[in-house]
Amino acid sequence: MFETFEMAPPDAILGLTEAFKKDTNPDKINLSVGVYKDASGTTPILRCVKEAERRLLDQQQSKGYLGIDGLPEFGRLARELLFNADHEVLTSERAVSLQTPGGTGALRVAADFLKRNAPDSSIWLSKPTWANHPKVFEAADRRVEAYQYIDASGTTLDFQAMLESLNQIPAGDVVLLHGCCHNPTGIDPTPEQWQQIADVVHERKLLPLIDFAYQGFGKGIENDAVGLRTVVRLGAEAIICSSFSKNFGLYSERVGALTLIAGTAAAAQVALSHAKVSVRTNYSNPPQHGGAIVAAVLADAELRAMWEEELAEMRKRIHAMRMLFFETMKQKAPRHDFSFITNQCGMFSFSGLNPVQVDELKNNHSVYIVTAGGRINVAGMTEQNMDRLCTAIASVL
Ligand code: LMR
Repeated sequence: MFETFEMAPPDAILGLTEAFKKDTNPDKINLSVGVYKDASGTTPILRCVKEAERRLLDQQQSKGYLGIDGLPEFGRLARELLFNADHEVLTSERAVSLQTPGGTGALRVAADFLKRNAPDSSIWLSKPTWANHPKVFEAADRRVEAYQYIDASGTTLDFQAMLESLNQIPAGDVVLLHGCCHNPTGIDPTPEQWQQIADVVHERKLLPLIDFAYQGFGKGIENDAVGLRTVVRLGAEAIICSSFSKNFGLYSERVGALTLIAGTAAAAQVALSHAKVSVRTNYSNPPQHGGAIVAAVLADAELRAMWEEELAEMRKRIHAMRMLFFETMKQKAPRHDFSFITNQCGMFSFSGLNPVQVDELKNNHSVYIVTAGGRINVAGMTEQNMDRLCTAIASVL
């Protein structure tokens, strides 16, 4: 059978890392996949993670299966990170969480959950969005639509167009919002704009699905949750897909959470029962290790303080790289204005480079960025690679 198959296209993001690994240029630069690098260009294991692993190694008694929804302690702590323990959503017990294999796992379970329980709903994605979003939902036979997000320059939120577009979405459909650090643009709504987004979502009776993969990478753990806490209103439903890949540096451990918020505690338990059916028929139950690390760090005051410090270090380094990139580009290509990079948030920015320029960067300079919009992973820039990177970009402009 396989003889008759044609090659599938490479993945828009991870396919570039495959190409990067094959590139023999010793000065190659990978700014495609969203992975944090420290000043020396390596993706570090956080100190709090190492310490939590040391403790787990001593204390863990069993490698037996977890429940379908994962470690209960992990679920509780993941919810508390979203809302804080005294929030109405948590005290009323109308939120339930499942430990999932990464944020992508959470999205896929959410997609499957919607397929089973809201079969007529479409999913509305921002234009642009993470290249894998439409594929994940389409893989679960979900109809995917798009709402406006950025203006023609690709560097600013077109908020009026976004609101108008959200106002056209039929009641009962699902709108996917990026909780913070919009991927791929790095452009987030302001707190006031989030209020207006929340108004439209509720007036039109849409179900918000918040992809929350970068908490702590934008303005801080609490500030990054402002949009999400604004959209989740009293008694209203929501779905949240969180990832701990970036903020704990646990990329390869695949740890995320799917949080379902219902109108009541009883409805939340019913929703959980359906999500568990989706999990059981996909991967049965989640892997333990990553979730156990996150729970161990968040539950321990000393490790949590260490985590917050390390997360702040990553956030500050990314911001410093945004400033350095802007300054260096000013010298290398004075006629081009890259100041927008300094206002954007999180790992990514749209550079505005077109597909021909992106190809030239890859083929002539061994610099890898994502083709659509010329998305750059700012977190992969270092003081060492900045000059070479900006020289290469200036030469293709
Ligand atoms: C990205 O957008 O680069 C990350 O979310 C990693 C991925 O899986 O694509």
